[in-house]
This record gives sequence, structure tokens and C-alpha cells, in this order.
Amino acid sequence: MTTKQLQEIIESSFAAGAAASGAVGDNTAMTAFLALRAALETGEVRAASPDTASPSGWRVNAWVKQGILLGFRLGVLEEFPAPELSVRGSGLSFVDKSTYPVRHFAAADGVRVVPGGSSVRSGAYVARGVVCMPPMYINAGAWVDEGTMVDSHALVGSCAQVGKRVHLSAAAQIGGVLEPINATPVVVEDDVLVGGNCGVYEGTVVRKGAVLAAGTILTRGTPVYDLVNGTVLRATAELPLIIPQNAVVVPGSRAVSKGKGQEWGLCIYAPVIVKYRDDKTDLSTALEELLR
Ligand SMILES: CC(C)(COP(=O)(O)OP(=O)(O)OC[C@H]1O[C@@H](n2cnc3c(N)ncnc32)[C@H](O)[C@@H]1OP(=O)(O)O)[C@@H](O)C(=O)NCCC(=O)NCCS
Repeated sequence: MTTKQLQEIIESSFAAGAAASGAVGDNTAMTAFLALRAALETGEVRAASPDTASPSGWRVNAWVKQGILLGFRLGVLEEFPAPELSVRGSGLSFVDKSTYPVRHFAAADGVRVVPGGSSVRSGAYVARGVVCMPPMYINAGAWVDEGTMVDSHALVGSCAQVGKRVHLSAAAQIGGVLEPINATPVVVEDDVLVGGNCGVYEGTVVRKGAVLAAGTILTRGTPVYDLVNGTVLRATAELPLIIPQNAVVVPGSRAVSKGKGQEWGLCIYAPVIVKYRDDKTDLSTALEELLR
């Protein structure tokens, strides 16, 4: 089946609603979903792709997101064994949609998954050289490219696109987005450092080489103050919040300038671009290659 044919079946199955899973003896939708899931895992298709013709630099592949949602509709609840925990009925057991079992990796895949409370859901692309430190979670439709580190307590949400050699530090949360179907997922491009306890949500695009200092939170509604260029970056109706290439963003605050907030002398959270990456930043962000 070509990708074009796959797309057509996914789109028509998605449009058919509940009927797509109800037709007796017709497993067209399930066959297409399983083909999509396999293609997501090998990286042949992805939820969003780089596209220089698009103003954000990324194009959403809405049909892929439809296919991922179709998988949830087609799946039934099923018990999953928890190998090291289900000793003689004690410990945890797991129930999830049959269409999204846990992904299994072999040594030949070149991905290191250190034991201990981590999970990668089927339909996620994880490239060779990725290191997953426990506990961490990679959801369906996510793309995690070569040489990236997913550190402890980090989350890569559904359909999030994470580039090459990215460091997702401990407790970094990369939000997922399946619906609305046309919404751009969060994109973290190559060579970005996402510091500990950061949160990147609601389709925010972090361009190549940018650095998010520990504790930086970015959403569609968060204005970012660029001290270098004297500009304020915001999401618009058409575009998500975009952090420029090589920007170094740190968590700051700004005074509330009106109403009670001003009267009470309050400040609210404001991420600030203090500079663009320099040699000192490279030194600060040099991470132990030996861990890879
Ligand atoms: C952002 C970071 C990489 C530092 O980059 P850098 O290029 O070396 O930054 P500099 O030290 O030159 O600082 C530039 C300015 O930003 C300020 N700054 C730097 N880091 C900051 C932070 N985390 N919060 C607030 N301000 C910060 C500095 O005070 C300086 O401002 P000043 O010139 O007014 O004093 C570092 O602070 C950081 O957050 N690293 C990530 C740590 C982490 O999460 N590790 C995870 C391990 S699992």
C-alpha cells in the first residue's frame, strides 16, 4: 500500500465515525491503522513535517493525527502484563486500548531504554542513538530523532516532534496535541537544550539550537520578551509561539501595569531572551557525551 492509498483509507475511515469499526467482517480500518502505526514507528510518516513553504516551518499532517485517533476508536480495553511487577497477582496491572500496546525494542534498534518505570507507546518514532532515562514517557505519534536524551521524568506528548541531539532534561514536559486535528504539535528542533522542569505546550515551536533555562514555561498565551532585539514574541491567530534559533530563554517576571495588580505591586511570569547562544552557552550546555 502506498502512503497516498493509506492516507485515503485513513481519511475515509475517520470520516465514517463509529461505522468504521462496526462493520462485521470488514477490517479495512484496522488494517490501515496497523499500517500507519508501523509507518510511524519506522519514521516513514509523522504527525508534522518540516516545510519551508509554511510560515512556522512545519506542516501538520492532519490525516496522520486522524489515524492515531482512529486507533483509539478501534481499540478495545485489554489487560497488559507488567512483567517484573505482576508476581503472583501482586503489584500493578495495566489496562489500555489494544491498539496501543507498549513498544518493544531490540538491541539492533540502537535505542537504550534503562529499566525502571518508563514506557514508549506504539506509534511513536524513536531513532537510533536516543537514550531514555527512567521514568519517562513517549506517547503515540511522537517523533524523537537521533542522539536525543529523554531524561528522567520527562514527557514527550502525543505527536510532539523532537529533533536531533536535543536534551530534554529531568522533568521537562513536552505537551502533546491530537485534537484539534489541524493544531500544530509542539516542535523542538535540532540541538535544543530544554532545561530541567521546563514546560513547552500548545504547539510552541522551539527553533534549532535554542536553550530554555531550567523552569521556563511556554504556552500559546505566554509573551516572550526578547531583550536583544527589543521585541515581544507572541503567538498569533495563524502562528504558534516561535522561539527563534539559538535564543537563550530564562524564566523572568514583569510588573503588572494596570488595575489591582499594579496597586498591589504584583509581578507575573515572563520568559525573557537574555541573549543568543555564544561560547559560554555552549560550555554551560555541554553534556556528558559518555552517557550516550
Ligand atoms: C541558560 C543556561 C544554559 C545558562 O546559559 P549561559 O549562556 O551560560 O548564560 P549566562 O550565564 O551567560 O547568563 C546570561 C544572563 O542570563 C541570566 N541567567 C542565566 N541562567 C539563568 C536562569 N536559569 N534563570 C535566570 N537567569 C539566568 C544570567 O544571570 C545572565 O544575566 P546577567 O548578564 O544580567 O547576569 C543555564 O542557566 C541553564 O538553565 N542550564 C540548564 C540546566 C539544566 O536544566 N540542566 C538539566 C540537567 S538534567
